[in-house]
Formats: sequence, C-alpha cells, structure tokens
Amino acid sequence: MKIGIDLGTTNTVAGWMNIYGNIEFLEFDDGRTFLPSCVFFDRGKVIVGSEAVKRAAEDPASFVSQSKIYMDDRKKTWEKEGRRYKAEDIAFEILKKVRVTLSERFPDEKKFDAVVTVPAKFGEDQIRRTASAVKRAGLGLIEIIKEPVAAALAFNDDSFRPGDTVYVIDFGGGTVDAALVELTGTSGVTGFVVKDADGNRHLGGRDLDGVIASLLFEQLRNCSGQDLSDEESTFGVARKKTRRIIADASETLKKKLYACPSEKAVLDLDGVCAVCEKKENCSAGGCFRAEISYDEYLSAADEIYEKLGALIVSDEVMEKKPDHVIFVGGMSSDPYLKQFISSTFDGSSFVSAGDVCEGDGYLTVIARGAAIKACDDNIHIVNKLLNSLGLICTGKNGKYMDPVISAGTDVDTDFEVRHVYTNTGRFETELRFAVYEYNGDPEDFDNLEYRKVGEFVFNDINPMDTGKQKIETVFRFDEKGVLTVCAEDLNDHNRSIEVSFEI
Ligand SMILES: Nc1ncnc2c1ncn2[C@@H]1O[C@H](COP(=O)(O)OP(=O)(O)OP(=O)(O)O)[C@@H](O)[C@H]1O
Ligand SMILES: [Mg+2]
Repeated sequence: MKIGIDLGTTNTVAGWMNIYGNIEFLEFDDGRTFLPSCVFFDRGKVIVGSEAVKRAAEDPASFVSQSKIYMDDRKKTWEKEGRRYKAEDIAFEILKKVRVTLSERFPDEKKFDAVVTVPAKFGEDQIRRTASAVKRAGLGLIEIIKEPVAAALAFNDDSFRPGDTVYVIDFGGGTVDAALVELTGTSGVTGFVVKDADGNRHLGGRDLDGVIASLLFEQLRNCSGQDLSDEESTFGVARKKTRRIIADASETLKKKLYACPSEKAVLDLDGVCAVCEKKENCSAGGCFRAEISYDEYLSAADEIYEKLGALIVSDEVMEKKPDHVIFVGGMSSDPYLKQFISSTFDGSSFVSAGDVCEGDGYLTVIARGAAIKACDDNIHIVNKLLNSLGLICTGKNGKYMDPVISAGTDVDTDFEVRHVYTNTGRFETELRFAVYEYNGDPEDFDNLEYRKVGEFVFNDINPMDTGKQKIETVFRFDEKGVLTVCAEDLNDHNRSIEVSFEI
C-alpha cells in the first residue's frame, strides 16, 4: 500500500488515496489525524504521540519533542534510560508508531511504501538520515520529496498551469520554508521544479509560543513572586512542571488569539499556584489566570515577525512575481502573516491553508501532497542542490579538495557525476576519500562552512607508477532522491565500495 508521510517537527501525518481517488488520513490513538512528534520514555517503554505529550508535565526529563530541528546536528543526543538517542533515532520511533498504527488499520496489508517529506532546507546528509529512519521503521521508501513541492501538489488544480510559478510559504512548528516552484507539463501540470528555496530550520511556531510564555512568566512573577523564565536556573519538580504547564498554555493561548484576535485570550491554569510564595493572601482561589491581548502579543513578537518578513520577501521572489502564493503549515491561520503575505504579493492568487481547509485539514496539506505523489508515477520533481558536494582525496603525498557538484545544480532522480582520481606518488597502495557538504568557495577551504558526511578508504590498490591508478567515484541521486556515493577501481573492476554515511 502506498502512503504519504509528513514527518513534521511538531506533528506527523500519514495519508493515502482511497479507491475513489480521495485522500484519507490515518487516525492515531486519540482519534486525531495527526501524531504529535513527541516521545516519552517510561521505564523501557517508548510512548509516542499525544500520550507522550500528556505525560510530559509529570516528568519533563523523560520527554523529547521538536527533535527534527536537530537533524543537522550529529552531536546532539538525548540521554534517556541509559541510551543515547540522536534525532534520527527519535524520527525512527515516530515512524515506527506510524507503521504500527497503519498495520492495525490495515491488517491485511503486507507492506507500506511511503513518500516522505522533508523541509526545503534539508541538505543531503539530513535527507539520508531521514531515509534511514524510514527504512529502520519497517517502511518501504518510494521517494523523499521537499515539503513545498508536496504543498504545491496538494493545491494543484485547474488554476495551476504549466509555466506558472508557485511561491510556497510553509510555517510550521519548528521550521519555516519559502520556496519557488515552477510548474511544467504539456496538457496539465506534471512537473515541479524547485527554483529557489530559502528557510530557517530554527524558526517556527514554537518561537511564538516562547514569546507568549515570556509574557506569562512575567505575569506569574508579578503574581507569585517566582521567576521561572530561565530553564537552566529553574530547579525542583514543582517548578519544572509549572514551566511545562506554561509552555502548553502558551500554545493554547496562541491558537485562541489567532482564532479571535479582537478578544483577550484567557486561560485559568491549575497546578501553577503550587510554586506561589504568596499563597496565604491570594485572592485568586488557587488558579493562575493567564491573559493576553493580540496587541500585547504582536508587540512582543515584533523581532520574530521582522525576521520572518525578511525571509519571505526576498529580492528574487519579488522579481519573479509568482503567479500563485500558498501559505501552509500549522501557523497558516496567523492573522498578521496572512495579511502581510497577501498584501505583499497583491498581484498573485493567494490561498492560506488555515482559511480553506476544514477542521484540522490545514495540518494535513503536506501529507496530502506526499500521498498524491505516492500514487502518481507521472509526477516528476526536480530539486536544486542546496549545498555543494565535494571530496577530499588523501594519498601518501598529500591531499586535495575536489568540488564535485555545485550548490544550485538542478538535481533529477538518476542524476550522477563521475570523477576519476589517481595516485600522485609512485607505488601508492591506499587512497582515502572524505565526502563533504559545503557552502562557499572550495579554493578557500579553511574558511568554508562544511560538514563531513562520510568517508571511505580504498586500500590494497595495485602499486603503480604516478598517475596510473584510477579510482572512479560516482555521486548519484537514486530514484528515491537520496544521494549515494560509490567508488570503483577502474584497473580492477571487481573492486568497488558504496560509501557508508554513518560516522
Ligand atoms: N489552529 C492553530 N492556530 C494557531 N497555531 C496553530 C494552530 N494549529 C497549529 N498551530 C501551530 O502550528 C505549529 C505546528 O505546525 P505544523 O503541524 O505545520 O508543524 P510541523 O509540520 O510539525 O513542523 P515543521 O514543518 O516545522 O517540521 C505549532 O507551532 C502550532 O502551535
Ligand atoms: Mg511541516
């Protein structure tokens, strides 16, 4: 069975096309069509989703959320119950939950093959790590596609014509993506070419929750005398739990404000008063009342909106004058941003998922696009390579950096680049290779922003005169959209290596 999965920072959604050609979405334990991308560790048991969210206040130290934003950080780990988890291990737990829920819903299906989405700003290493979590979770991988392409697919109707450009702004919980997608095709739209992609992997709805949390911490300090605003210096179970309650309340208040900006959002919070120093002479009766107006929120969120504005309105996009602008993601109901985007692009058709989707439908847009792609082999996607790719080849006589594919190159599935390396000294028997993703000028290696994504050694090579050995490397994007690197000794075709990217 073919499915589409949006493995989000905040929520994960899985969908498929039913026999009538409509997309349906998987319901999780709580009956909702999205799974909070959160994990709670309970004495050997790994709990995923809304149950994990419920348990978080009980023991915040056993809880992991928003792990996807660390997919680019190999050093980031969570130490839980004697095990170290990396971002892809948490992704694996979330995807396993999806696979198990699918198996319960469709007990007769033997295999689930998925199109899985990643943010436009994910580089090849992050894509590979996502792909490996998909496979470990027991799902087949059809293809990894970028989230803005999935959004364009979800909104692809008669108003979309070949030659049009669609500007997709996806504002989720942990990331914001802004990508220009060009539509191609002959009779209808069948091709999606990512022309330009920008974004911020560390800016999302949770930052706006943080803005509200800061206002609430201030209110709490005025009311109770306790300052819990700094996580590092908040000690004790009751205080940590209170921080968690405030974090959850901030998101709820944000939703209330977006739904009704003209009214003050109010929430009575149980449990918060446990930390109060003035309990004896409190008139509130044991409940802390959090109250925020939209204007208060807007002025506190000023800096974040400025950053978002600069990201969304780039010179390239303004010059391109996109035909369509679509605003998706959980934050697409933000009244300020809707107004800002529609007035900035007033010559384009504008649609916000928050306005046009029924119920929680705005959260399922990306998975919808992925499910459409999973069932349609005629859809063709071309991506722009985000970071340059290169190799450092090291022999006995030194090393040299070889740029292989430049950032910005159009990358289709089955796109490949071959390079041949040779020995720079006589009778060498070993060549070492390291694969890099980088940004900047490869000539200026010391100042490059780079990341080693894999390495391999070709040893026991036949000793030969200088320049006679021939090791060919192939950088290839397979049909799943995932980078593979292979190397072969052209003097001995029996010897080849596929590079393992885990270091
Ligand atoms: N009705 C709503 N009103 C306001 N904000 C909402 C609403 N529903 C969801 N959100 C916010 O949207 C964000 C989650 O959005 P979404 O589900 O698109 O994120 P994601 O896809 O998991 O994350 P990402 O795209 O960054 O990986 C959260 O910050 C959440 O608070
Ligand atoms: Mg998303």
